Amino acid sequence: MIIDGKKIAAELREELKKKIEELKSSYNSIPGLTVILVGEDAPSKIYVKNKEKFAKEVGMNSEVIRYPENVEEKVLLNKIIELNNDKKVSGILVQLPLPKHIDKRKVIETILPGKDVDGFHPMNVGNLSSGYDSSIPCTPLGCYLLLKKVEKNLSGKHAVMIGRSNLNGKPMTQLLLKENCTVTIAHSKTKDLKTECSRADIIIAAVGRPKLVKGDWIKKGAIVIDVGINKTDTGLVGDVDFDEVSKVAKAVTPVPGGVGPMTIACLLSNTVECFKKVNSK
Ligand code: GUN
Repeated sequence: MIIDGKKIAAELREELKKKIEELKSSYNSIPGLTVILVGEDAPSKIYVKNKEKFAKEVGMNSEVIRYPENVEEKVLLNKIIELNNDKKVSGILVQLPLPKHIDKRKVIETILPGKDVDGFHPMNVGNLSSGYDSSIPCTPLGCYLLLKKVEKNLSGKHAVMIGRSNLNGKPMTQLLLKENCTVTIAHSKTKDLKTECSRADIIIAAVGRPKLVKGDWIKKGAIVIDVGINKTDTGLVGDVDFDEVSKVAKAVTPVPGGVGPMTIACLLSNTVECFKKVNSK
C-alpha cells in the first residue's frame, strides 16, 4: 500500500476550510497566519509560497513578510513582538534556516507560545514531552496522522525513529510514546541501523540520506514513513529506497507526495487551533 499524503492532506484542508467557515460565523473573524522569510534560500522560498497559497485556499488570512539576508536581528525580533500583539495574527512562523548572524534560539523564544504554529518554543516542546496540550511541530504531526490512517492502534508497536533533530526526530518520538509505542531513536552514530530497523513495526526516516533504508532492512508488514527530501541527479528521492521497500512493507509513503503535503496541512491546522484557543477563552 502506498500512503497517499497528497490526498490525505487535501482531505484535511477541506475539513479546515469548513471549520474556518464555522469559526467565521461564530466569531466574526478568521484565523491568520504570518510567515517571515529572511534571505533567498531557494527551497525556503518554495515552501513559503506553498504555505501562503494553501492558507489562502482554506480561507484564512495569510501574510508573508520578507527581509533581505542582511536584516538586523533586532528588526526581526521587533517585528515578532509587533505580531505577538496583533489580534489578527493567530500564528507566526519564521522560516528556517536563518542567516548565521541571527540567533535562531532568540527568534524562536520571542514568538508567543500561543502563536508558535511550529511548536518550536521551549514551552511547547516541554508541554509536548510532559503530555500536556501544545502546538506540535508540523512534520511529525503529519507523519503521525499518516501512521494513524494505516493503523489506528499503535499500542505496543516497536517504532524506530531514524534521526534525532528538534524539528522531526525528538517530537516524533514523543507522539509515538503517547501512543504507547516502544521507541528506538537511531542516528548517525548508531552502530547497526539495519538490525535496529529489522525489528521495527514502524520506521520513520528523517536523516537526509538518499535511499538509506533498504528493502532487506524491513520486517514484513512494517509501516515506513519517509521524511527525507534529497535532491539527486535522478531527481527528488527520500531517505527510503521506495522501489525495494514497497515490495516488503505493509505501507510506505512516496517522495514526493507523502509527508510533504501533510506538513503544510498541519501548519494550517495548528493555526486554526491557536485561533480557537484565543477565542474560546
Ligand atoms: N524549514 C524547514 N522545515 C521547517 C519547518 O517545519 N518550520 C520552519 N519554521 N522552518 C522550516
